[in-house]
Amino acid sequence: MEIKVVSGDITQQREGAVIVNLFQGATSPEGATGAVDKALDGAISGLIKDGEIKGKKGEVTLIHTLGKMAVSRVLVAGLGKSEDLTPQVVSDVAAQCARRLRSIGVSSAATVAHGAGKGGLDAGGSAQAIAEGTLMGLYRFDKYKAADPEATSFDQITIVEADKSKLADMEQSVARGVAIGEAVNLCRDMGNEPANAMTPTEMAERALSVANDVGLSLEVLEKPQMAELGMGALLGVAQGSEEPPKFIILNYNGDTDNPSNSIGLVGKGITFDSGGLDIKSAAGMLTMKSDMSGGAAVISAMRAIGTLKPKVNVTAIVPATENMPSGTAQRPGDVVRAMNGKTIEIDNTDAEGRLVLADAVAYACSIGLGRIVDVATLTGAISVALGNKCIGAFGNDQAFTDQVIAAGNGVGERVWQLPTFDEYKEQYKSDIADIRNTGGRGAGSITGAMIIGEFNDGASWVHLDIAAMARADTTKGSMVKGATGIPVRMLINLVMSL
Ligand code: BES
Ligand code: MN
Ligand code: ZN
Repeated sequence: MEIKVVSGDITQQREGAVIVNLFQGATSPEGATGAVDKALDGAISGLIKDGEIKGKKGEVTLIHTLGKMAVSRVLVAGLGKSEDLTPQVVSDVAAQCARRLRSIGVSSAATVAHGAGKGGLDAGGSAQAIAEGTLMGLYRFDKYKAADPEATSFDQITIVEADKSKLADMEQSVARGVAIGEAVNLCRDMGNEPANAMTPTEMAERALSVANDVGLSLEVLEKPQMAELGMGALLGVAQGSEEPPKFIILNYNGDTDNPSNSIGLVGKGITFDSGGLDIKSAAGMLTMKSDMSGGAAVISAMRAIGTLKPKVNVTAIVPATENMPSGTAQRPGDVVRAMNGKTIEIDNTDAEGRLVLADAVAYACSIGLGRIVDVATLTGAISVALGNKCIGAFGNDQAFTDQVIAAGNGVGERVWQLPTFDEYKEQYKSDIADIRNTGGRGAGSITGAMIIGEFNDGASWVHLDIAAMARADTTKGSMVKGATGIPVRMLINLVMSL
């Protein structure tokens, strides 16, 4: 994909198509859209008058120019109401236009920076959103399909800006958007891979590629080292699988003078969650190859962080293993000891995410990370509580939690906080160990989060439950059916804001 920024007049472009836009309720097209309308002898205003173009968000109208312009096609993209315009809307619109053009065999387009005039966005922000949305919207996972001889591709977009003084800033913004969009798509690739390919070993390989590509340091702990560190909770989950577990540590040093200016991004890396001996139903197991989405998100975010180079130290930590039933699998009723010394009675082997995260969060604290965000497809209960419109957040430090939530809202990855009242602790008391790994029927996402929090030692900690958000059932805007790549953009935005 090539994304360029040029100065010029949108009506004079010679790409496969020209993309302009319209706000909902606009009666006569203005700016670039007005200029194109004029070149087309009023074709756009005519369609508005006829009620065929309304400017609603998601509406894309294809007009053939029939020799009136240098290009043969114009797309008019609805931006919705001007007061609701955000970079996310621009991303979604760019994604939709790119997919539409690809589907009709058009491989390039010139576009304006949507919303940068009347919409109140700055030209850079709009250019970044176009880059992100185009990359995300065109995403496909087709490596296991036979090549389609009729397949078409869309591979070039030119953002046309009349004001030359804005070009340098817009080019930088496009580079940022490309780094972010590529990180999201890397995360999607990992989540879409079947579990027979995306093993813990393969996750470590992907982390190695990221490290090599953007110059990060990587450490991968093997079983004996995990045992030496006392990671009994992680090893208990891993012992049922033939696949060797990997404890992946990716490091970016952006503020070497201030080692304490650091943040840990911890991601659940269960490459397949069968439930273990407390085995899942066939339907419940079907999407469990994506139970490593949190781990994929933190590894992928590190790729963009390594490219964008913020002034902060970031460590990504992924406890990666399968959760399988076998003769060596851990049993309900077993007691394991985590790295921080706390013992856990295994009430349910399917509550394995909190077990691997217990050791990962304890490890993060042991290496002095003062801020920790963990990301996990932790509970089915989060979809009962919140549906699939937002991420569930839990934290022990309200100021930091607010910062994390704001980072998500800023990129359209919405987050909603749930409580962690001390009173819930009685739900996961054990008769024979310090705690047990489940908290009974009520408040399943809260007790799951709080069990992870038991292994935090003094850090500002936020847990993000992405179980309902890691996969999408339909393609819409910049989201493509399958692994979503959520919350990669949010993590990048958070780290950039520190
Ligand atoms: N990986 C699942 C959670 C999940 C469910 C993610 C659906 C995505 C979609 C997790 O390991 C799990 O099995 N959680 C249990 C916890 C329970 C046993 C306390 C659950 O949610 O049922
Ligand atoms: Mn499970
Ligand atoms: Zn799981």
